[in-house]
Amino acid sequence: MPTAAPTARLAPDDEGLSTAADLLRTGRLVAFPTETVYGLGADATNGEAVAAIFEAKGRPSFNPLIVHVPDIETARTLVVFHPKAEHLAKAFWPGPLTLVLPRRKDCPVSDLVSAGLPTLAVRVPAAPVALALLSKAGVPVAAPSANRSGGVSPTTAGHVLKDLNGRIDAVLDGGPAAVGLESTVIGFDGDDAVLLRPGGLAAEEIEALIGPLASHQDPERPSSPGQLLSHYAPSASLRLNISEPEQGEGFLAFGASNHTSGPMRNLSPSGDLREAAANLFAFLRALDEDGVTRIAVAPIPMEGLGVAINDRLQRAAEPR
Ligand code: TXA
Ligand code: MG
Repeated sequence: MPTAAPTARLAPDDEGLSTAADLLRTGRLVAFPTETVYGLGADATNGEAVAAIFEAKGRPSFNPLIVHVPDIETARTLVVFHPKAEHLAKAFWPGPLTLVLPRRKDCPVSDLVSAGLPTLAVRVPAAPVALALLSKAGVPVAAPSANRSGGVSPTTAGHVLKDLNGRIDAVLDGGPAAVGLESTVIGFDGDDAVLLRPGGLAAEEIEALIGPLASHQDPERPSSPGQLLSHYAPSASLRLNISEPEQGEGFLAFGASNHTSGPMRNLSPSGDLREAAANLFAFLRALDEDGVTRIAVAPIPMEGLGVAINDRLQRAAEPR
């Protein structure tokens, strides 16, 4: 658990906003109001802080998260805009619209936020308290809805505390969320905009601006929802629960290891599951870039974040 002390309830005034911004900048978790639902925020560039989000929520798997920024200029430093995304952002930001776009090469956001995908979901929320917090924090803020995994999204600070009291550092109380429904998520496939999740901005409003949305359920389309939403899998094949890799294999180690031959990355030499979660996707990618065709993965304990790490590794190990 990221924290044991009771969660602070902060007023949305200068002092509360400064406290919340400082907490975010130092890698702590802060729930904050957006116009859709309350988000559970962490510095998106800090992999361990992002891992702590999954830990606090008790998420069984690492779903990709939305990054919140104060304006479109900041979003441009993270992702490459599709022409239709450009129109949509100009019309509907700040607002309940999330755009899934390719990460820039120099994107500083942790790979864990994208669950290892080459894309990143970005959004400029409309709630004034959220915008004030994002400006003060000065870092992109990754935030899923601020509820325990499997629960419904919170629309008040009270809901957040009911689920997460003692598991996060603070909640910024901005009153009830105005929209109360998560943002509409739009992705892009070639020239098309694709509705990935219906939400707080009606599809009709979007279509009035850029024409018909492709549905990711259309069987004629080359990109199935599985592909669009699938998690990162390395090109190399994976063998799990391996203590001694074979000749020619890459090795993804965990904990103390005296293995030295061949390409290797250690998720956490000290055996810290939060550090391991933060490194997971980046290290799978790095071993791919080392050019190995098979990766042996050390046993990861099935506790805490280890459950999500093993879930991800098992998916990545599925025969393709
Ligand atoms: O209104 C909202 O969107 C709220 C507030 C806090 O902003 N956030 C929210 O986050 O609902 P969450 O984590 O509960 O949902 C994020 C959605 C999921 O459906 C996820 O699959 C999708 O966004 N998503 C995020 N990154 C993605 C990516 N790279 N590719 C495809 N889908 C992505
Ligand atoms: Mg959610």
